[in-house]
Amino acid sequence: MSVIDFHSHILPGIDDGSKSTEMTMTMLRMASEQGVDVMLATSHFYASRHRIEDFLARRRRSFERLMEVKKDFGPELRLGAEVAFFSGMSRADRLEDLTIEGSRVLLLEMPFTAWRRSDIREVEELVSKRNFQVILAHLERYMGMPENKKWIEELLEMPLYVQINAESLLGWRRRRPLLKMFERGQAHFLGSDCHRVESREPNLGKGRAVLEKKLGKAFINAMDDRGSRLLRIGGNTDV
Ligand SMILES: [Fe+2]
Repeated sequence: MSVIDFHSHILPGIDDGSKSTEMTMTMLRMASEQGVDVMLATSHFYASRHRIEDFLARRRRSFERLMEVKKDFGPELRLGAEVAFFSGMSRADRLEDLTIEGSRVLLLEMPFTAWRRSDIREVEELVSKRNFQVILAHLERYMGMPENKKWIEELLEMPLYVQINAESLLGWRRRRPLLKMFERGQAHFLGSDCHRVESREPNLGKGRAVLEKKLGKAFINAMDDRGSRLLRIGGNTDV
């Protein structure tokens, strides 16, 4: 069972996250000091801007350059993407290439605009027809949008997973409803969504400390176990 950061922009020079190998190495050191074993490298993917093959090639180059320096240091990286929702994506070829490597897990970023019924239906098809294990990225960032409230409720009825940013557990005012979601099984995983060092930094440890203090060690262990099984980490393949 591993401590997993489910959301990061740790790969250098590929999106608005880390700018250099040096910055990434500092971020990896910070994550390592917080006990992170595995980081999902979820660089932004926008279908409107990127062709999948170009994205994959850039990601591969960034990863290989990093590995020349990183070697075995710090958390293990698993390549993936934070895939921005787009109309028609439930019928798009090659979405499989954007899952977290070794799994059918798709980290999906919903739009920061009013959602439509057809958008929600597409998410449902990604789950039920395409058999992706969808993780909704930082769902809490949409919870302040009243127009999407009913759609969020519909999403929470589906067999998918919800990732919350560690940062959102640090302010006492926002923390309460999120802790309730974790308790009810409506939120499942934590990510740092780290982009750099000075701000939006690797902070998974702080978020985990809040979860452990409020919900207990057994809860954290169960979360780590579920995450490890979902991503088939440590030879554990039962989901
Ligand atoms: Fe992100």
